[in-house]
Amino acid sequence: MKENDLSARLLDWYELNGRSLPWRIKGGAHPDPYAVFVSEFMLQQTTVKTVLGYFERFMRRLPTVESLASATEEEVFSLWQGLGYYSRARSLHETAKTVVRDHGGKFPRTRAEVQKLKGFGAYTAASFLALAFNMPETVVDGNVTRIICRLYHLTAPAASMKKLIADKAVAITDCRRPADYASAIMDLGATVCTPKKPQCLLCPWQSACLSRGRPDVEQIPAQSKIAKQEKSGAVYLITDSAGRILIRRRSEKGLLSGLWEFPWTAEGCLPLPLAHASDLQITHVFTHIRQTLTIYCRQTDESPIADGIFVAPFELDQYPFSTMMKKVYRKALAAGKI
Ligand code: ADE
Repeated sequence: MKENDLSARLLDWYELNGRSLPWRIKGGAHPDPYAVFVSEFMLQQTTVKTVLGYFERFMRRLPTVESLASATEEEVFSLWQGLGYYSRARSLHETAKTVVRDHGGKFPRTRAEVQKLKGFGAYTAASFLALAFNMPETVVDGNVTRIICRLYHLTAPAASMKKLIADKAVAITDCRRPADYASAIMDLGATVCTPKKPQCLLCPWQSACLSRGRPDVEQIPAQSKIAKQEKSGAVYLITDSAGRILIRRRSEKGLLSGLWEFPWTAEGCLPLPLAHASDLQITHVFTHIRQTLTIYCRQTDESPIADGIFVAPFELDQYPFSTMMKKVYRKALAAGKI
């Protein structure tokens, strides 16, 4: 089947079966590039299902790029709380400020300018330009990679064929309707050409697909195996005699920066005089790390760390915490330790 026929079939399928999502419209670019910008940042590493509620709340509170640019970091973080990967929130905020300060509040429309903005890699720039401005850009994400590998039955690890996959994805992209095409191929990957149990009988590309019906279809694309790094550390839930709990704000740099947390260390123990045995643990998986934390609970009226503050439990929701820290708190609460 020719590339033109593939894209025409996909677009026909999309008209009938494409998802209705608040950050897109069928039939071209979204009228508000800001909505595309916010949604694309949220959708990096997070599923559509999770993003939906966050997106609605965020747009209600900060409906324009100007309102985001003038929001406090605390407000942006609290709207992001629970989405994870908080450096995205910081980049989103910084880019909104740049767009207002350097571009008069209008998002740039060229790839070179967009890629200069914080948080825009090649993938986000392509999907933003296609979805916000109907520019002929090709999105190559995990979904598209899987679809292309299956369509052409490419069985080597996807990481070793990046250029080939991108060239094939570009060749199929419909240059007249890039926004719809980008949404359509994302939807095909999310709803039909899924990692497990693909719905080949519903696929608009079934007659062209070289992997359809093959027993190895779920193994395509092949992953190069990189094991997650295992880390084992400790977290400290320190309460004072009034029942308040010790928290601190993480430094501006690195993983989880700017969020609040209970004192913790990724490996080993902190040098605190608290070493009771504990069998209370949580495990949290980041992109490359599987982090286990042993939870130590202790009461003392003197903060053993310089930058900590004691806050009442009912005040905790005023401080943006990472998902990992919420897990720690819930675990200790369920075990009756705090
Ligand atoms: N994943 C990344 N961007 C997306 C979008 N605009 N719609 C659905 N899933 C996505």
